[in-house]
Amino acid sequence: MIHLLNAALRARKQLKFGDTDAYRLIDGAGDALPGIYLETFADRWLLSTQAPNIAPPLRTWLNESGKTVYWKKLDQHEKESPQHLCGPKQDEPFLIRENGLRFQVSFQSGYSQGIFLDQRDNRRRVREWTKPGHTILNTFAYTGAFSVTAAAAGATTTLDLSQPYLDWTRDNMRLNEIDPEQHHFIKGDTFRWLKHFAKQERRFHGIILDPPSFSRDDKGRVFRAESDYGTLVELAAACLHPGAWLLCSTNHRGITPRSFLQTIRAALPRHADLDALPMPPDFNGHPYLKCICWHPAGDGAKYRE
Ligand SMILES: C[S@@+](CC[C@H](N)C(=O)[O-])C[C@H]1O[C@@H](n2cnc3c(N)ncnc32)[C@H](O)[C@@H]1O
Repeated sequence: MIHLLNAALRARKQLKFGDTDAYRLIDGAGDALPGIYLETFADRWLLSTQAPNIAPPLRTWLNESGKTVYWKKLDQHEKESPQHLCGPKQDEPFLIRENGLRFQVSFQSGYSQGIFLDQRDNRRRVREWTKPGHTILNTFAYTGAFSVTAAAAGATTTLDLSQPYLDWTRDNMRLNEIDPEQHHFIKGDTFRWLKHFAKQERRFHGIILDPPSFSRDDKGRVFRAESDYGTLVELAAACLHPGAWLLCSTNHRGITPRSFLQTIRAALPRHADLDALPMPPDFNGHPYLKCICWHPAGDGAKYRE
C-alpha cells in the first residue's frame, strides 16, 4: 500500500496547479486505492474513507508525513465535522488559494469544509466566461466560491437557503478585495426565485446550477436531483439573456452522464449547443461529477477545452 500512496503523491507533482494550494492527492480507485481519498488544503490534509476504520499502513504513513491530518468517514448518517487524526491541530478557519483567489476553509464547520475542490476547473471556466458588465446568478451557492470567481469580472447574485453560507460568501469576497455591497445576496429557495425572476423579466448572462442531490426548503418542499433537475433547467433557461450560458452540474451517483444529458436536452430548445465539461485532472478516479454547459446557438462564444 505504501508504494501506491507515494505514487499518488508523485503523480500529483507532475500536474500543474499554478497559484493553487488545494487539490486532491489520492482519488480512490484512480490511484489503485479504492475507498481512500486525500485532499490537501494549504498543506493541511483531509482524509476521507469509505471504511469505518483506517488500515494500519495508511495510519503510519499519515503519521510519518508530519502534516495536520483530519479524517472524515463517508456515507455516515450523522453528517459530522471531520475528526483530528494526527499532526498539529487546526482549530481555526484558514485560507487556501485557488488560481490566485483566496477562500476560507474550516474543518469545524460540519461535513463540508467550505469549498468543493472538484469544481475548481468549472470555477476557472466561469471566470473566463464572465465579462465586465455581465450579471451572473449563482444558485445553491453554498459559500459562494462560484460567486467569487464571477465577481472578479461581473456583478453577481448569490442565492442560498442558508444565511451563514451567504455570510461566508461575503467573507470570501472580502478576502479577494471584492466589495460584497456591490453584489446581491438572496436567502431563499432557488425554484421560487427563478419563477420570480422570470415574472419580473430579470435576465442574467450566466446561471450556475449546482444543487445537492436532495434538499428540503424552508417551506418543506423537497428537491430530488433525479426527478426535478429538468424543471430546474427550464426555470433557469427562462432567465437568460440571448447568448448567455447555463452551467448544470450534479454529483449524484444515481444519475448517469447519459441520463443527465438527456434530462438537460429535453428541458432546453431543440438545437441547444451542449458541452460536457471534464473533472480536474487530480480527480482521476470515478468521474461522478457530471457537468454540462449550454451556450445557445449563434452566440459565437462556445467554450472549448
Ligand atoms: C452541495 S452545496 C452546493 C455547492 C455549491 N454549488 C458550490 O459550488 O460550492 C448545496 C447548497 O444548496 C443550498 N440549498 C439546498 N436547497 C436549496 C434550495 N432549494 N434553494 C437554495 N439553496 C438551496 C444549501 O444550503 C447548500 O448551501
